[in-house]
Order: sequence, then C-alpha cells, then structure tokens
Amino acid sequence: MSLLKRKKNDAAENGAGDEEAVAKPTKGERLGQAKDLGVHHGTQAGIDVAGWVDSRVNATGIFTAMMSRHVPKGTNWFYTLGSATMFIFAMQAITGVFLSMYYTPSATQAYASITHMTNEVFMGEFVRGMHKWGASLMIILIFLHMGRTFFFGAYKYPRELNWVIGVVLLILTTVMGLTGYLLPFDQRSFWATIVANNITASGPVVGPYLADFLRAGPDFSATTLSRFYALHMMVVPGLIAALIGAHLFFVVKLGTTAPPWVRAGRPKGARPEEAVTAGVAREDLEEVPVNGAGIVAEGEPPEAEVAEADADAAEAEAVEATEAAETEAAVAPEEPAEEAPAADEAPAEEPPADPADAPAEEDGEGEVNS
Ligand code: HEM
Repeated sequence: MSLLKRKKNDAAENGAGDEEAVAKPTKGERLGQAKDLGVHHGTQAGIDVAGWVDSRVNATGIFTAMMSRHVPKGTNWFYTLGSATMFIFAMQAITGVFLSMYYTPSATQAYASITHMTNEVFMGEFVRGMHKWGASLMIILIFLHMGRTFFFGAYKYPRELNWVIGVVLLILTTVMGLTGYLLPFDQRSFWATIVANNITASGPVVGPYLADFLRAGPDFSATTLSRFYALHMMVVPGLIAALIGAHLFFVVKLGTTAPPWVRAGRPKGARPEEAVTAGVAREDLEEVPVNGAGIVAEGEPPEAEVAEADADAAEAEAVEATEAAETEAAVAPEEPAEEAPAADEAPAEEPPADPADAPAEEDGEGEVNS
C-alpha cells in the first residue's frame, strides 16, 4: 500500500470525512515514492522479461537441474577436471573466433596473415598464445579427467555410454590439434602434417582412405589447407560441442560416481543390474528410495532402509523372545518344584512346546534325531 493511500485509510479510520486529516505527502515523501517507483519498475521489468522467457523455455528448471544437482559424499577437486576441460574448450572457441578474423586460409597468404596478427594486431600475440597453450592444456586436462573417471570406476554400468562419448571427444580433441597445427603453414607445420598424414595412411583398412580425405586428394596441396581449416573451424568444434551436450546430459541424468571409498547405491534413473539381466522393465520395479544422485554414503543409509532395518530388528527380537519362552516352557518340567518362578511360568501339566524334544527329555535317552 502506498504511503498516500495508507494516510488516507488512517484518516478514514480516525475521523471519517475530515478533510484536514488527509495529510498531503511532503516533498521528501513524494521524492521517496518516486524513487521507490523507479526502482520498483526497473527491477520489475527485469523480472518480467526473465519470467516471460522462463515460462517459455523453463530455463530455471534446466539451470537448477544442472547447477543444484545432488552430488555424492566425498566429491572432491578431481571432479572439477571435466568442467576445467569444458572451460578450456570454451576459451579455445572464443580465442579462435578472434583469430579467424585475421587469418587467411590460403597457401600463399596463411603464413603472412599469422605474422601480421602476431606482430601488428592489438593483443594478437596474446590471443594467439592463449589459443596455442590452451590446445596443449586441453589435451592434458582431458587425459587427467579420463584418468579420474577410470580410477573412480565411472566407466561402469550405467555410464558406459558416457565413457564412449568421452572417447569420441578425446579423438576429436586430438583431431583439433592435428588440423590446427597446419594452419600457420610454416615449414614446421607443413612437414609435421605430412608426417602425421603418412602415419594415418599406414593405418589398417581405413588408413589410406582417411589420409586421402584429409589431404583432399592423393597429394598434399593448397586444398589440404582449406580442408584442415574447415575441419578445424566448423566440423570438429561443432561435433565436440554437440557431444559435450550429450555428455553433460548423461552426467545430470545418471549423477556422478561416488569415490571408490564411498558405498554407492542405485544410480538415479537406472535399473539395478540384476533387473536388466532378468529383463524386468523399469515400470515393474518397486520404487527404491535413493539418496540424491543415487549414492548412499557409508554410515548414512537412507531413511527407508533405516526403517526397514528397525522393523527387521524388532521382528527378530520378537521371534527371539517367543523362542526363549518356548524353551523355558520345555525345560520347566525338569526343574525342581521349589523353583517357584519357573514353575509359575510353565506349569508341569502343560505339554512341552516341542513334541520332538519331549520324549527324549522324559526318558533321558537323548535320541532326538532318530
Ligand atoms: C571435451 C572433452 C570433455 C569434456 C568437456 C568433459 C566434461 C565432463 C564433465 C563436465 C563431467 C562432469 C564432472 C566430472 O565428473 O568431471 C564429465 C563426466 C564424465 N566424463 Fe567427461 N568430458 C570430456 C571428455 C571425456 C573423456 C575423454 C572421457 C573418457 C574417455 C570422459 C568420461 C566421462 C565420464 C565417464 C564421466 C562421468 C563421471 C562420473 O560419473 O563420475 N569424458 N565430463
């Protein structure tokens, strides 16, 4: 309620109809209202635009699913290697866009355009250096990330597909290195690419075809540079970006693997391996509560499990108590009559609880198993 309206309401309550009671707002109050209104309108406009977009694309839901996921207990710095690789890929894409503004993919002009951007363009050397060092860093990080997923057993069911996507990403990343290396078109990059191409040609079955495809013909020529440029600029980064999307989709869907020293439960969205082997459909399975990403930390079982364990324990106690009572009842007749409590609990005339035991007890032969 605005200040003015509140004052009017107050006035109406205190003395209805009294004109003087309706105080006009002071200049300061008016300024304050205007300021509030401005701030309010500014923020409201921002929220409205975001809300408008959000109600159509559910960006908040996607963002929440990505950023507010449950992660297993014990998640540590090694889990940042995948994101670090992704960050470097983004940096490569950004710096690559700037480099492409000055690069000419022509056998006669490529080297000159590179020298120009390095020596004359503002921050050219810096951006080129970032791209060059970024390439090596991405290879290092991808291997470290792969090592982490391997040693933490993240390649196992149900994440095999994500591992396979990762392998393709690794191959594509090395293809980025190979195709990018030729682009400066200096002596080193020219001869190094010829060597790499010859090695490719020596590969079994597909090797010669692959080498021909990369060379854009039987001989290394100016067209080879155009082909490498197209692969480096568009085809491979596009594939990498799409595969990173799929890779992340699986990471969000399946959750991340707990470290080997943490006991893992059933991953979110996955059927237990026995159910898969037995061909039991997901909808036929009973819902098993899982902790967040499907990981149950050591020493902290989910509530349902605790309740089940408690029920089991109570049942076991009850069975034990009954058995104890039965045993007492069976033993009671042998006990001397003076032992009042036992005699009270199991009177001598009552039949023994276990008929198999009874004759043995009575005739003292001990042949209960005959
Ligand atoms: C461009 C390259 C890659 C990017 C940007 C990338 C990114 C990511 C990210 C952000 C995650 C989730 C966080 C994490 O666990 O680190 C992840 C998980 C994973 N990545 Fe990669 N990755 C790449 C390459 C690879 C490679 C080469 C492999 C293996 C051959 C691989 C296998 C996996 C697996 C199996 C997971 C699931 C980890 C788990 O469940 O704990 N990734 N990746």
